[in-house]
Amino acid sequence: MLNFDFHVPTRILFGKETEKEIGALLKPYAKKVLLHYGGGSIKKSGLYDTVTASLKANGIAFVELGGVKPNPRLSLVHEGIDLCKQEGVDLILAVGGGSVIDSAKAIAMGVYYDGDIWDLYEVAQPIEKALPIATILTIPAAGSEASEGTVITNEAKDLKLPYGSQLLRPLLSVMNPELFFTLPKEQLGYGVADMMSHIFERYFTNTTNTDLTDGLCEATLKTLMKNALLASENMTDYNAWAELGFAGTVAHNGLLGMGREQDWACHDMEHELSAIYDVPHGAGLAVVTPGWMQYVYKENINMFVQFAVNVMGVEASFRDPDAIVQEGIRRLRDFFVKIGLPATLTELGIGPDRLEEMAKKATKIPFGEERPLGGFKKLYWQDILEIYKLVQ
Ligand code: NZQ
Ligand code: ZN
Repeated sequence: MLNFDFHVPTRILFGKETEKEIGALLKPYAKKVLLHYGGGSIKKSGLYDTVTASLKANGIAFVELGGVKPNPRLSLVHEGIDLCKQEGVDLILAVGGGSVIDSAKAIAMGVYYDGDIWDLYEVAQPIEKALPIATILTIPAAGSEASEGTVITNEAKDLKLPYGSQLLRPLLSVMNPELFFTLPKEQLGYGVADMMSHIFERYFTNTTNTDLTDGLCEATLKTLMKNALLASENMTDYNAWAELGFAGTVAHNGLLGMGREQDWACHDMEHELSAIYDVPHGAGLAVVTPGWMQYVYKENINMFVQFAVNVMGVEASFRDPDAIVQEGIRRLRDFFVKIGLPATLTELGIGPDRLEEMAKKATKIPFGEERPLGGFKKLYWQDILEIYKLVQ
């Protein structure tokens, strides 16, 4: 096990009707908030009315900025920064999914950054200050409700890049699984693929003596798979959404990666797809991940045998290690398809013409020296191109 530093200060208020408490929860921290949200689902569901009533009842003033798109755009972040500065906002309340929360995080640090906030995404220099953030989560997926990350799309440059800082972990997040009932079915699949990927990026490692986190990763993966099937049968199954919601936070608050070398190649490869083709993050991950597994498993086959047996339920006696791994990958692919996810780039509307460009961008070749991806196996642009071709 490697040395680590684990600090997750985000308070999670979980359960039925918890969103009604948002005003009281924020009262000690804010006099004026920016209410940040997406394309309108919160107005349709009535959540907007609940939240604004709770803020008003607690004497919290607010200004609002809606319109965050999936794959959140830099242009709206700029608008939000200006608005917060003009209005003297002292906390950002993000009501939505990963896109809204990530946009809120970019605004929160942009308020204190002299210059274009995009600089920080391109050159990951540390920040010293950010506005506090609170969230009401409406989709279990990105894990941004307790993570240090934000991922923003610069639409002018066809780039989607992550940035991370401990200062961006939300102060508090409210999670009522009933708010997930209104999700379109395809978002369930996207969310589950993303949450599973957050675990895979940590689970597949060459670090040894990681029994505890191995077990936690495996239990969280199995929880996600079991409850994804239940929720896809019945989109108002509270208990299934409760398991998915809690698992999503655990998958990405950092705990499962402590003491382990992490990978993150699938996320970097996927961000290239979203940047150019604006595909949902989870859909891109569902395509790329089995291809990555196929390409890298021989690097440390024991880790993949463990995955196939402990998570995908392949019998340990199944012929030989290669056959066990192949069966594990096949079962994962089948599971993704079962919950409505795509299996190929073609299904995502991505043709062969820009694969090489994306492989090179993933390893930063257009911006300077090549930086290979991955902790489990180092991947250069030619490897990434091979993986894209495997899932074409
Ligand atoms: O915009 P609205 O109208 O709210 O609709 C959204 C959006 O269209 C809809 N939705 C959300 N909750 C709903 C709902 N519709 C009906 N009922 C509800 N309760 O769902 C759509 C997708 O929302 P989005 O926020 O984009 O989804 P998600 O949470 O999957 O976030 C994806 C983004 O998170 C980033 C991804 O790259 C992507 O941009 N990630 C952020 C991370 C982080 N900050 O730590 C880590 C992740 O790896 C990920 O990269
Ligand atoms: Zn993700």
